Amino acid sequence: MKDITILAVDDIEANRVSLQYLIQEYLENVHLILASSGEEALKITYKEEIDIIILDVQMPGLDGFDTAKYLKSNPRTQNIPIIFLTAAFKKEEFQQKGFQIGAVDYLTKPIENHQFINKLNLYIEVIIKNKQLKAVNDNLYKALQKEIELKEQIQKQQLELIEQSKMAALGEMIGNIAHQWRQPLSLISTCASGIKLNHELGISKEEEVINSLETILKTAQILSETIDNFREYSYKDKLAKFNLSEVINKAIKTREHLINENSIEVITNLDNNIELTNLPNSLVQALVNIIHNSKDALEKIDTKRYIFIESFIDKNNLIVINIKDNAGGIKTEHINKVFEPYFTTKHQAHGIGLGLNITYKIINDSMYGKIKIKNIKYTYQEKIYEGAEVTITLPFKI
Ligand SMILES: Nc1ncnc2c1ncn2[C@@H]1O[C@H](COP(=O)(O)OP(=O)(O)OP(=O)(O)O)[C@@H](O)[C@H]1O
Ligand SMILES: [Mg+2]
Repeated sequence: MKDITILAVDDIEANRVSLQYLIQEYLENVHLILASSGEEALKITYKEEIDIIILDVQMPGLDGFDTAKYLKSNPRTQNIPIIFLTAAFKKEEFQQKGFQIGAVDYLTKPIENHQFINKLNLYIEVIIKNKQLKAVNDNLYKALQKEIELKEQIQKQQLELIEQSKMAALGEMIGNIAHQWRQPLSLISTCASGIKLNHELGISKEEEVINSLETILKTAQILSETIDNFREYSYKDKLAKFNLSEVINKAIKTREHLINENSIEVITNLDNNIELTNLPNSLVQALVNIIHNSKDALEKIDTKRYIFIESFIDKNNLIVINIKDNAGGIKTEHINKVFEPYFTTKHQAHGIGLGLNITYKIINDSMYGKIKIKNIKYTYQEKIYEGAEVTITLPFKI
C-alpha cells in the first residue's frame, strides 16, 4: 500500500512521461495516476482517493482552470491540494487566477527537477501528517464514542437495578402484608359466616352478634394498622432525629412472625440512649434485610437458633450496630461477593441477591456509614458458635 496517490494531468504525452520518470525516480511510496485531459481527471477523482493533483493549464476541452473549478465545487474533491504546472501560462495574472481558484501552488516551467521534487515532498509530508492526525482524531472520536456508549449502558443498568430493587421491595412488602393479614382475615370471615349461619337457622342471639361485630371491627383495625406500618417504613424516608433502639426494635418487630415461626431467639444488647440524625426508615429496611438473611441461614440448622443484635458507641465516637447469627457463616469463596447485585446462593423462589446490595447502598450512599460482613466464632453461655456477623457504623449526624 502506497502512502500517497498523486494524479498528474497533462495533454502532452512527453510531459506525462517525464513527470512519471521524476516521481518514480525520486519519491518513494507514491502511487501515480496519469490523465490526459481535464475530463479524464474528473472521472478518476470519482473512483480513486487522490491526495495531490498536478494540473497542466493549457489543455484542449476542459482546461486546467475549469477542471480546478469543478474539483473545488465538489465536496468530495474540494480539499485535494492542486498544483498547477505550466509552461505556457507564466504571467502574473494567470498565477493569480490559479490561486484564486484555490490552487496551493502555481509552478512554471522550466523548473529544476530537484526544486520540483522538494516542493512535492513538502506537500506530501504535510498530507501524511494530516492523515496521521486524522487517524488519531478518528481513534479518539471512536474511543470517546465508546466511552459515552459505555456510560449510557451503565446508567441504563443502574436505572434497571433501581427499578428491580423497588419491585423486589414492593413484592416483599406485599408478601409480608399478605402474611400478616392471613390470620385476621380468616377471623373476620369466621365471625361473619357465624352471624350469617345463626341468622339463617333462626338461632341468632343479639349479644353474640354484637360480640362478633366487635371482633370484626377490632380485627379490621389491625389490618389497617399493618398497612400503615409498612407504608411508614417503605415510603417515608426523611432525615430525622431518632432513637436507635426504637428503630432496631421496629425492624425486629416487622420480622417477628418469621422469627417466631422458625423458633429463633433474638438476643439484644442495646445502648438505649443513642440518638442520631439520619434516615430511620432506610435503616429499618437495611436491618430487616440482614435479619432476613440470618433467618434464611438459620432455617438450615437443627440446633438452637440465635440472632444477636448489639449497639454501642465506639472509641472513634461512631455508632456501631452488630448483628450476628449462629448459622455457620458464609462460604469463604462467597464472602467477597455478597454485596454484589444478584449474588445469591438461594433458590430463585427465596432470593434474588439484592438484599445485601440494597443494604450496602442504604448504609454507604444514603446514610454515610459503613457496612462489613465476616464470619466469626464466639462463645455464648459457655458454648461455641459460628456464624456471619454484619457490622454497621454510622455517624451521629449527616
Ligand atoms: N447471615 C448469613 N449467613 C450465611 N450466608 C449469608 C448470610 N447473609 C448473607 N449470606 C449469603 O449472601 C448471599 C447474598 O445475600 P443477599 O441478601 O444479598 O441476597 P439473598 O438473601 O440471596 O436474596 P434477597 O436478599 O435478594 O432475597 C446469600 O445468598 C447468602 O449466600
Ligand atoms: Mg437477603
